[in-house]
Amino acid sequence: MKDKKIVWITGASSGIGRAAAIEFSNNGFHVFASSRKLANLESLKNEIDAKNNLIEIFECDVSSSTDVEKCVKIIFEKTNRIDCLINNAGITSFKSAAQNSVNEIDEIISTNLLGSIYSVKSVLPKMIEQKEGLIINILSVVVKKTFQYSSVYAASKSGLLAYSNVLREENRKHGIRVVNVIPGATDTPIWSDEKRKEFSNRMMKPENIAKILVDVTTEKNNIVQEEIVLRPIEGDL
Ligand SMILES: NC(=O)c1ccc[n+]([C@@H]2O[C@H](COP(=O)([O-])OP(=O)(O)OC[C@H]3O[C@@H](n4cnc5c(N)ncnc54)[C@H](OP(=O)(O)O)[C@@H]3O)[C@@H](O)[C@H]2O)c1
Repeated sequence: MKDKKIVWITGASSGIGRAAAIEFSNNGFHVFASSRKLANLESLKNEIDAKNNLIEIFECDVSSSTDVEKCVKIIFEKTNRIDCLINNAGITSFKSAAQNSVNEIDEIISTNLLGSIYSVKSVLPKMIEQKEGLIINILSVVVKKTFQYSSVYAASKSGLLAYSNVLREENRKHGIRVVNVIPGATDTPIWSDEKRKEFSNRMMKPENIAKILVDVTTEKNNIVQEEIVLRPIEGDL
């Protein structure tokens, strides 16, 4: 158990985060999985426990810096190290700029942008001390292309892109790799049931995204894949 690499995945109760938790645990990682809904994490844990793989779950609302600090304390008390953080927790609204309420705007920015920054900040000193670490940010093709009904979401992901690029430059000297994963439409509950019914065949599957995340993590050389853009073969919806 001591030799296992430690990965912390935020937003692991559903979609890409859930698939990643399963894939990382299948590949011998010690997975720390967090999100707001413990009940959903428990079903994930049952599935991973049944295969005798290693997962620990905990409640963590990334939009709360206090929650994030508490989570990291739990991880470090158990392992005293972290190999990989996957900033995956994310929400959107699919509403126009005019329709978004102030509450929705605050929630999207606090979760996608601030939550990821809080999570980075909480692991960074340990990664610097270790002289290695990997931070994967799950962005979105909204940072590459303009889509309607995604203004606040695009602002949150583009903000995180800018943050990550600076983070990478500052931390190369510490052996810390920062990778931006930029997916297009993926078949997860972030989409409405109607959209999923209509486009499920076209969308990428979270399990396939998860395999790519594991590949990035297991890279053994002095390369950093700074940006990975993933689109369905048939293109954006
Ligand atoms: N699906 C796509 O087409 C697509 C495309 C590009 C990028 N992405 C990005 O991929 C990431 C994962 O999304 P998904 O598609 O897998 O959607 P999802 O199935 O809705 O999963 C989102 C996850 O984030 C968690 N979450 C939401 N707010 C949170 C908070 N404040 N604190 C902690 N966890 C929180 C949710 O769990 P709880 O409700 O339990 O907290 C859930 O586990 C997001 O960053 C999303 O922007 C998705």
